[in-house]
Parts: sequence; structure tokens; C-alpha cells
Amino acid sequence: MRSHYCGDVNGSHVGEEVTLVGWVNRSRDLGGVVFLDLRDREGIVQVVYDPDLPEVFDIASTLRGEFCVQVKGIVRARPASQVNDQMRTGEIEILGKELLILNSAAPLPINMDKNQHNTEEQRLKYRYLDLRRPEMAERIVFRSKVTSAVRRFLDGNGFLDIETPILTKATPEGARDYLVPSRTYKGQFFALPQSPQLFKQLLMMSGFDRYYQIVKCFRDEDLRADRQPEFTQIDIETSFMSSQQVMAKTEEMVRGLFQDLLNVDLGEFPKMTFAEAMRRFGSDKPDLRNPLELIDVADLVKDVDFKVFQEPANDADGRVAVLCVPGGASLSRKQLDEYGKYVNIYGAKGLAWMKVNELEKGLEGIQSPVLKFLSEEVVDAILSRTNASNGDLILFGADKANIVAEAMGALRLKVGEDFNLLQGEWKPLWVVDFPMFERTSDGGLHAMHHPFTAPSGISPAELEANPTAAISDAYDMVLNGCELGGGSVRIHNSEMQSAVFRILGINDEEAQEKFGFLLEALKYGTPPHAGLAFGLDRIVMLMTGATSIRDVMAFPKTTTAACPLTNAPGFANPVQLDELGISVVEAKPEAKQDAE
Ligand code: AMO
Ligand code: AMP
Repeated sequence: MRSHYCGDVNGSHVGEEVTLVGWVNRSRDLGGVVFLDLRDREGIVQVVYDPDLPEVFDIASTLRGEFCVQVKGIVRARPASQVNDQMRTGEIEILGKELLILNSAAPLPINMDKNQHNTEEQRLKYRYLDLRRPEMAERIVFRSKVTSAVRRFLDGNGFLDIETPILTKATPEGARDYLVPSRTYKGQFFALPQSPQLFKQLLMMSGFDRYYQIVKCFRDEDLRADRQPEFTQIDIETSFMSSQQVMAKTEEMVRGLFQDLLNVDLGEFPKMTFAEAMRRFGSDKPDLRNPLELIDVADLVKDVDFKVFQEPANDADGRVAVLCVPGGASLSRKQLDEYGKYVNIYGAKGLAWMKVNELEKGLEGIQSPVLKFLSEEVVDAILSRTNASNGDLILFGADKANIVAEAMGALRLKVGEDFNLLQGEWKPLWVVDFPMFERTSDGGLHAMHHPFTAPSGISPAELEANPTAAISDAYDMVLNGCELGGGSVRIHNSEMQSAVFRILGINDEEAQEKFGFLLEALKYGTPPHAGLAFGLDRIVMLMTGATSIRDVMAFPKTTTAACPLTNAPGFANPVQLDELGISVVEAKPEAKQDAE
């Protein structure tokens, strides 16, 4: 039906007859000449119908938006004055000779124009139309280029593409499971995989020493711009490779993607320890485009007569840190209060500030609600450590270290954006040396990655003796403040795996019930192995400049995990429920709405 994609017609085709199919992006009747912008997945081309062919012209005059049509015509160069540099096909146009309406379109339920707003709900309900819009179509086409480049790289490096089950047992990645009831075992449930973690480890035990899969994962968790309940991982596992080798290989893959698809050289990724990332940026996924850093000042305010600073400064778990914002002294009281409210969201109780108006005037030149509590010596020491200049603003966070990191880390990002401080386009890094465990609010321990992550260089007995001091052999790849992927060297012997379960408060019986198959498998010559998983959606989101992963998925869910297109989830048929042995206790129909 066609000779070319619309977006592919260019100056080299001038004089040729082409046959194109696509949708009417726009059609205008300008004083007896009809201009038709014809669109397909590859782009838009302008077709011109003049009244020389009255029959064709008459059909052209009836076209409306989103009619599906076939066009036959001759490619001609546009006059210099009409060349459009913004369009890939802007040098040429098609002089229409034939026009066939393949299908008409009813008035559209959403606005197809890029500059017109549609709600997320409307866009998802009519996703098939939303995806026709060039900015969406381009992202979906780009996504396909990413997966095909990933496959090429991994195939070329000896990785085998092996599928793992979707109906399976719970995999602990920290979210809630999606459950699927079993008909043959009434009252029992499969869980959809949060990741293929355990199966890929079992594949290493089987000897397939390089595995990959581009695979759907399911997590019932609170959704945000970079999280969906159903998302795609580029999942990788290797045997006989060290963490350094896994990082080098996967870094090569990501560097290659950026080079080949965006012509961007990411260079070599620096490595930063978790401790350094938290200290300097208050985050384990720092955006290195932002030049602001948290500066610790606890030692300077240990003896001040201000409990808000003095207490955390003398507490082993406390922290006092500042951000020095260049030019921030111009902020109004109201704007400072807004920042105060912003850090409240992250648990901070307040946000003391200090405006550096005129350094030359000593304390006189400094303005701050907490100045009365600080001696000139302390103020001087803070100014000198922060290297503050006239016009700067110093913002203080004082609390437990985790609250200061979270609140000041988030504030750093906000201020960086508000003051337009970001430098450079792409700043990748590896974050390494994560602690094995973190404390939960109830005082227990939680695996920082997952419970199959190996500690660095210690025995099971040493790990159990001091679990909170243990560092794991895990690594996260971070780009522009987004965690693209994460992985680790795995535990490959059952004593170590049992020790980790015990530390996590999983007793032997529960360990057997949940992970008995893994503990047993570890006994039969398990090779040392390591791997990693990337979030494909996040990679494509960053590479296309989208602001949400929903914009790079063909059919995403709303932020309340529903699908307005198919109206899923839905109530089940009573007969089906009966077969499954399920009775629904209480089902209040709730409107499925996008909460964002
Ligand atoms: P992790 O849980 O860190 O590790 O997931 C790996 C990567 O998957 C992406 N990701 C998500 N993307 C979109 N929506 C979500 N809800 C979501 N959750 C995670 C992120 C993340 O970096 N089995 C381990 C990997 C391993 O150790 O090999 C795992 O799943 O980009
Ligand atoms: P207060 O004495 O509580 O009125 O606080 C005096 C100043 O310290 C105000 O500017 C508060 O915003 C600020 N402040 C209070 N708690 C904290 C905190 N935990 N960290 C930083 N600043 C704080």
C-alpha cells in the first residue's frame, strides 16, 4: 500500500512518484489549495492538492483530523522561502495526484495538538490515539531501538536470553506482591515476580554463566513518576565475574547506548561510596549536575547555647549540615518559609538560615533568626568552612543524621532547580560499598539491597557478630539523580545465606518454607555469581527527556495502579470466584482515578 514512510521522504526523492499512507495530522484549505499534513509513525510530510484535478481536490476538501488515507503524488522541492528547517521533510512537499480515504474518523475525544492539554486520565483512556501524537510515537520507536541495541550488545557478549516464570513464589525486593489465586490448589496463591532474582541465580547454578532477559516485573508499591506497578528490567546475571567486571561490562553497554543512539560520550563512570554520597549529597543517588554539597558543621556548633544545633552536634547519630546557596540572600521571608515547609515533608523540624549580606561588617552584615545564639567566632568558622561570599544564603539542617540527609538532600535538589544551578547534561556514577543492613523503625534490620547480596570479605560468623558494620559487594548505577540499575555479588554458600536470614529475623523454619529450594540448591556446587538489573523504562525516560516513565510505556497504569483504557482492575465473575474458592468479604466500588 505504500512506497515510503511519510517521515522518510526527502530531497533525494524529488521528481519521484510516491505512495504514502497515514493519518491526517492537519488539513487546511488556503484559497483553493488544500495543504494536508500526513503523519505516520516516522514523521509528517506536507501534501498539496490544487484544483487542477477537481475530483481529487473535492475529496481533499472533505478531510478531517485523523482520517486514515492513502496518497499518491510527486515529490517536489519547496521554494526556498517555504523550506521548514524544523521538519525532517521540510525541504520537500508532495504534489497530490490521487487520494483514497481508507477510513474516516469520528470527532476526537482527546486533543491531538501537542500544545493543548489533556488530563492523564484522558490520555490513558484513549492511549491508542495519544500514541499517534509524534512526541509519543517517537519515544515508543526510540524504546524499541534501545531494546534492540541492548540485545545486540548482550548477544554479542555471550549472554543467553532465558525466560523465567511469571507465576511463581514471592521474591523479596521490598514491595508488596501481586497475587494470583490457584484453581487447582484452592486457597493458595502464586505471586507475580518482583524480579527474576532467584531464578537467575538458579540458572547460574545450572551453568548458563551469562544470562539476560528483558522482563516484566510486578511490584505493588506507592507509585511516582519513576515507578510503575508493572515495569521492565534488563536483567543480567553472570558466573565467575567480580563486581568490578560486572560494572565494567554493564557500563560499556550503557555507554554504547548513549553513543549509538544519542551520540553522547558518557566517559568513564566515577565510583563513589555510599558513605561519601550521603555525606556530600544526602542521597544514595546523587545528581552530580548540581554543584551544591552538604557541609558538616557539627564540630563548630557543639558548644553553642542553642539546643536545636547543640543536641544533634553531640549525638553520635545526629548531624548538623548546611547548604550554601550562591545568591540566595535575595530570597524573601516568604520564600524561606516555603523552603522550611518543604523540608518538613522530609521530617525536618525547621530550617534555620543565615543571609550573608556584607561580610566586611562582621556580625552586623549577617542576618539570621539564630544569630543571637551564635558567637562571632562560630559564625566566622561557618562562613569560612562554607566559603560564603556576599549575597549567599546558608541553610541549616540539624537532627538525626538520616533526617538531615533526607531533608537537606531533597532541599539541595529543589534549590538547584529553583536557582538554575545544574551544570552539564549527563553525569553518571556508580555508588558502591552500601551497608549490608539498615535499621527499620521497629529496631529490626532490613537488607539494603536484597537478602541474597554478599558481604565484602567477611565470614558468616563475623557478619553475625556485627551486622550493622558490614559492607556489601553491591553497586548502583546512577544517572542525573536517577537510579538506573542496581546489583551485587551474590551469596553462594548456604551458611552465609542462612546467617543473613537469621540477621533479618527469618527463623530456620520460615527460611525453609520460603527459600528452602535456594538453600538446598546452594549445596550442589554453586558457582560464585554476580549480576545487576536496569530499569529499562527509566533508561528510556532519561534518554528521551521524558519526565515520567509513563511517557515511555505504551500502556502504563495511572498513579493509583489502574488502567482507564480497559477499566482494569475489575470485579470477578462469581462463578470464577467460586471455582477459585474465593469469597470477597467487602467490595466497595471505588472510582479509578489518577491521583497525581
Ligand atoms: P532493584 O529492586 O534495585 O533490583 O530493581 C532494579 C531496577 O529496576 C528499576 N525499578 C523500577 N522501575 C520502574 N518502576 C518500578 N516500580 C521499579 N522498581 C525498580 C530501577 C532499579 O534500579 N533483583 C535486583 C537486581 C539484582 O540484584 O540483580 C532488583 O530487582 O531502575
Ligand atoms: P525555634 O527556636 O524552634 O523557633 O527555631 C529557631 C530557628 O531554627 C528557626 O528558623 C527554625 O526554622 C530553625 N530550626 C528549628 N529546628 C530546626 C532543625 N531541626 N534544623 C534546622 N533548623 C531548625
